[in-house]
Amino acid sequence: MPLIALLPGDGIGPEVIAEARRVLDAMSLDLTFEEAPVGGAAYQAGGHPLPAATLDLARRADAILFGAVGDPTCDALERSLRPEQAILGLRKELALFANLRPAKLFPGLEDASALRPEVAAAIDMVIVRELNGDVYFGEKGMRTTAAGLREGYDVMRYDESEVARIAHLGFQTATKRAGKLCSVDKANVLETSQLWRDVVIEVSAHYPQVALTHMYVDNCAMQLVRDPGQFDVIVTGNLFGDILSDQASMCAGSIGMLPSASLDASAKGLYEPIHGSAPDIAGQSKANPCATILSAAMMLRHSLGMAEAADRLEAAVGAALAGGARTADLGGTLSTRAMGDAVLVAL
Ligand code: IPM
Ligand code: MG
Repeated sequence: MPLIALLPGDGIGPEVIAEARRVLDAMSLDLTFEEAPVGGAAYQAGGHPLPAATLDLARRADAILFGAVGDPTCDALERSLRPEQAILGLRKELALFANLRPAKLFPGLEDASALRPEVAAAIDMVIVRELNGDVYFGEKGMRTTAAGLREGYDVMRYDESEVARIAHLGFQTATKRAGKLCSVDKANVLETSQLWRDVVIEVSAHYPQVALTHMYVDNCAMQLVRDPGQFDVIVTGNLFGDILSDQASMCAGSIGMLPSASLDASAKGLYEPIHGSAPDIAGQSKANPCATILSAAMMLRHSLGMAEAADRLEAAVGAALAGGARTADLGGTLSTRAMGDAVLVAL
């Protein structure tokens, strides 16, 4: 029986994970669950955002369902103890190098998008974000300049093997979709991006059936709001992918709707909503659980070989929305629990 590690984390994390758990339980899929603290919650409980027991559970599990980390009361801690280190540590320790962030507008949510309805309706894309490298994991620190000024630095770096493996996944993802891959970089300024572009072009030789284009990240940010329907699959580095996926989510209705999968080279994965811990609404049952429920569906599909159940779950979210179920982020009044109920009814 597959073991799922449940890591609720901080803020709205526990609320949205609870709804995903309820929905999975209702599907009678023969899953076992084990829960562990992570992020600020783990720091408060035991002094570390990613306790050894939590990391061990994540290693043992067949898949990880993750809520969110981030707690403003931890902002003054040294960086290695801050909640965010938990998710960064899990990504690195488990070699989860590939982050899939699908952005699609569910019918009926056209008016929730920040874009004009007819522009928003066309969104159906996947952002393939590299997750183990870039400025996130390069050398970083604080130092003093010769002039006695404080200086912060973070090194942006990729080696060619890191670019090649995510490029392959980008091409493979495009092969299963409309066959269009847009590689996003900043090659007009950054050496890291020049290498990125060169390697993506080399890898493209293996995928003659995919139409490859390149776009600078600033232009991509603009194109995402001008005409998001032009994108099928975007492949990009860690930092640009972080930013562009938040932007894409707002185009697709709400950040409360977007799931993600972080995969290693096998089928092992960590699944999480792309939103954060939202401390401003935590504990108020206002959060939209759909991103987490849809993350659970991705888990069923990518790590557990339960494609049919994944389809069923995604269809249930679609049906709940089509029936008018809306949390506050979508302009409605439903509580987190009531939105979960709407999905359960649709199931
Ligand atoms: C995300 C988040 C994380 C990131 C934070 C919480 C470290 O913004 O998953 O997009 O920057 O990757
Ligand atoms: Mg982010």
